[in-house]
This record gives sequence, structure tokens and C-alpha cells, in this order.
Amino acid sequence: MPSMNSSDPTNVLRYRPRRLRRTETLRKMVRETTLSVNDLIYPMFVTEGEGQKVEIASMPDCYRYSLDLLLKEIQEVYNLGINAIALFPVVPEELKDETATESYNPDGLVQRTVKAIRQAVPEIIVMTDVALDPFTNHGHDGLIDDQGNILNDPTVEVLVKMSVSQAAAGANFVAPSDMMDGRVGAIRQALDAAGYIDVGILAYSAKYASAYYGPFRDALDSAPKFGDKKTYQMDPANAKEALKEVELDIAEGADMVMVKPALAYLDIIHQVRNATQLPVAAYNVSGEYAMIKAAARMGWIDEKKIILETLTSMKRAGADLILTYFAKEVALMLA
Ligand code: PBG
Repeated sequence: MPSMNSSDPTNVLRYRPRRLRRTETLRKMVRETTLSVNDLIYPMFVTEGEGQKVEIASMPDCYRYSLDLLLKEIQEVYNLGINAIALFPVVPEELKDETATESYNPDGLVQRTVKAIRQAVPEIIVMTDVALDPFTNHGHDGLIDDQGNILNDPTVEVLVKMSVSQAAAGANFVAPSDMMDGRVGAIRQALDAAGYIDVGILAYSAKYASAYYGPFRDALDSAPKFGDKKTYQMDPANAKEALKEVELDIAEGADMVMVKPALAYLDIIHQVRNATQLPVAAYNVSGEYAMIKAAARMGWIDEKKIILETLTSMKRAGADLILTYFAKEVALMLA
């Protein structure tokens, strides 16, 4: 019988991975992934009025701000080191119509807000959402025909007008989240023709038809009034199709590409990472946020640790940037 004594040199454990986990200093030294405030993009909701700060029921600690209070909040998050915000408008019902005309109103809520941010916090990067759903009375991201089909090319024409008006207001990036075919190329061409060559495009390239958007639709009152978004947003079962969408958006001129949602799609983030040299963004969406907040409020999980672990998993999967409603909380934690 050979001896099982570990002092026997013929029976020594050559590899002991735990050796590198012994102390925090060692662990820091061999850490492969780090989450930084520089990775974060903060989605924020703007609403009409003054002095408004209204919590979103299904998104605790997340608010709809009127412009005056939004500017204060943006100054604060910029001071915390957050480089960029993604702006979403809460559009009054009476301004919604079938064709989203309010989306390209030069004096619309988004356009006024972007101008004001540019004045108040000139260094922060402002990304504007390009999609019709906050502006349509039916809640879809596109124009519809009599049968309720979502029309692609006529929608792209509106998205183009919307993008140019956001660029005119001072947006640094436009972020088409609508999933119409060909919109990135059409937007790029129109921005260039209007002289906005430095305005970038963050393309929601692989955006899935996901139940994780529920709380966001509460925040904007933008849930579709009929049907669902499955004829334009992607089937959650598909991965190869995500790579095709990314390839098309890059060919059309996207500066950065996005995978959305993030947590149930880490494999997609990873594959997109390997398919492009462009920055890859992941959207830690409203439903992912709500699940963590809810469990934390029940006392079932450690909120801060879960947030950091979750966002780190997105970086580890290959995301360079993360859109997250936790951005301010994380900036405070990392400070
Ligand atoms: C709309 C849009 C949605 C989100 C961002 N832009 C919802 C949707 O497509 O229905 C979701 C964001 C989130 O859930 O956090 N084009």
C-alpha cells in the first residue's frame, strides 16, 4: 500500500489553487475582472413639470424627475464619476398619437432636457433613446397599418427625424432601441448630412422580446395597447441571430453595440464580445433591477453584494459598458 501521507514527496499535491485565494491582497492581485464607475451608464427618466421627484412603484429608489430636479441629480451623479446618462421621457398622454409626431418636436421634452443638460453639466455624455413607443398612443415602437402590423421603412423615416432633432439639441449619442431593420444606416447618413458627424450611435443590436422590461413600461406608461413586440424584438431562444444583428449594425455604422437584457443573456454578451472590436454595452434592465430590489426589501438577499456580483458577471462575460439603474448606488459603493 502506498502511503497517503502528504509529506510523502511522491504523493504531493502539485497544484493548490487555494494558494492564490488565501488573503484579500492575493485575491486582488490575481483578479481578472474589475467593475469601475467608468463602466456605468445611468438611465434616467424625465417628466414634465417642476419640483417633481416621483418614485416608480415597481422600481424602488428610481424616480421620474422634472427637469429642474433632474439637473441637480445629474450634477450629483457626474460628481460621483458617472460619465454618461441615457435619457427616457415620460410623455403626457395628450401628446401621444399614432405616428409619434412629438418625438421630433424641436421643443419636445427630450430636446428641451438635452439642451438644459448641455448647459448645466456640459461634460456629461448624454445618450438619447430613439424609439417611438413613449410617443405612440398604441405603445409600439413603430408605425402601424390597419391590421396592426408594425411598418419598417416608414418607421425608420420617423426615427431619422427623431435622431436629427436630438442631435440638434446636443445629444452626444443617439441610441436606437426600436429594432427596425436598416435604422442604424439611415440614422448615420442623416446625421452626417446634417453636419452631426461627431454624434455617435449606440445600437441596441441584440434586443430581445423580454418580460424583463415590465417595470420600465410602468415607468413610462408605455406598455403596448395590443399584441406584443415579437415581430421586431428578438426571440429569446436565438443566439446566432444576435451575431447577425450585430454584424448588420456595425456594417451600417454603429459606434457601439448593445445586448439587452443582460443577466439572462450573458452567453450572448460573451459571443458578441468575441465577434467585434467595438465597445459592447449590456443593459441591466428594469426587471433585473426590480428582482434584486424586491428580494432585498424582503430581507432575503444582501443587496449591495448581489449588485456588485451581478454587474461583475456582465463585465466578466465581456461587456465594456453597463446601463444600470444601480449606477448611482454602485458609484457610491466604489467611491
Ligand atoms: C423602448 C425601450 C424599452 C426599454 C428601453 N427602451 C422597453 C421596450 O422595448 O418595451 C427597456 C428598458 C428596461 O426594461 O430597463 N424602446
